[in-house]
Amino acid sequence: MAPFSPDHTRDPLRFPMERPSASVRKGLPQGLKTRGVRPPPFHPHTLLPHSTMKNIVILLSGRGSNFEAILRTARAEDWEKAGLKIAAVLSNRPEAKGLETARAEGLDAYAVDHKAYPTREAFEEELVRLIEPYDPAVVVLAGFMRILTPTFVSRFEGRILNIHPALLPLFPGLDTHRRCIEAGCRVHGSTVHFVSAVLDGGAIIGQSVVPVMTTDTPETLAARLLPYEHKVYPKCVRAVAEGRVKLVDGRAVMDDATARELAVFYRD
Ligand code: GRF
Repeated sequence: MAPFSPDHTRDPLRFPMERPSASVRKGLPQGLKTRGVRPPPFHPHTLLPHSTMKNIVILLSGRGSNFEAILRTARAEDWEKAGLKIAAVLSNRPEAKGLETARAEGLDAYAVDHKAYPTREAFEEELVRLIEPYDPAVVVLAGFMRILTPTFVSRFEGRILNIHPALLPLFPGLDTHRRCIEAGCRVHGSTVHFVSAVLDGGAIIGQSVVPVMTTDTPETLAARLLPYEHKVYPKCVRAVAEGRVKLVDGRAVMDDATARELAVFYRD
C-alpha cells in the first residue's frame, strides 16, 4: 500500500496523476493544519517526499550505453537498498535510443526537443522544471550533446557529472580518439568530472585508462575504450551520490580508498 494514497481503496498505480492532499504529502495525519509548512517537492512518479531515497537523473542525447551501464550496475549492486534510485531520464532528442530504453525499463522518460525552444535559456528552463521535482542528488550527463549555460550548471553545482572520452586535461572537445592517435599517445582513456562553466574543465572524479595499439583507428580505439567508460562511470555516480566524493574549492575531494576505486585500468 502506498502511504501516499489518501483513500486506501484507491490503487495509486491506477490513479497515478492523483495528487494526494497536503497533509498526506507531508506525512501528517489527515486533518492537521499544515499552514506555514513548506510542502516537499512532489511529482506523481517520484518516491515519497519523506523517503531518504536519493534520486539520480540522467540526461542523454543518443544511444545511451553509459546510461545502460549505470542502470545495469545499479540493479546488480542493488543501489535502491543503499538508498539510491535512478529516477528519470531526459533527452533533447525525442528519437534517442536511450529514451526508448528508459521507457522500456519503466523509468520516467522525458523528451525535451531543444529545437522547439527559441533560446538555450528557454530549453534549460524546461529541463529544470522537469528535473527539480526529483531533487536529484546527482544529475548525470551521459552523452548529452548540448552545451549547458553557467546558470544551469551552477544550479546543480557539485552534483552534476559528465563523462568525456579522453584523459582530461588532454583533449577537451570533440574528436578525441583521432587526436589521441595523431598525438602518438600510448594510452587513452575516459574522464568523469564535475561539470563546471568551462567545457570539459571541471574537477576530475575518476578516470579509466586503455592502451593505444599501433594499428588503431579512431573507431577501434573508441571500441576498446567504451567498456571502460562503462566501468568507471557507475562507480563515480555512486561515489558522488553517497557523498564519498565532494566538490570543494574546485577540486574533487575523496579518501584514498575511493581514489583507488575510481582509477580503472585496462586488463587483457
Ligand atoms: C561516450 O563516448 C561519452 O564518453 C561521450 O559521449 C558518448 C556517449 O555514448 N560523452 P552513449 O550514448 O553513452 O553510448
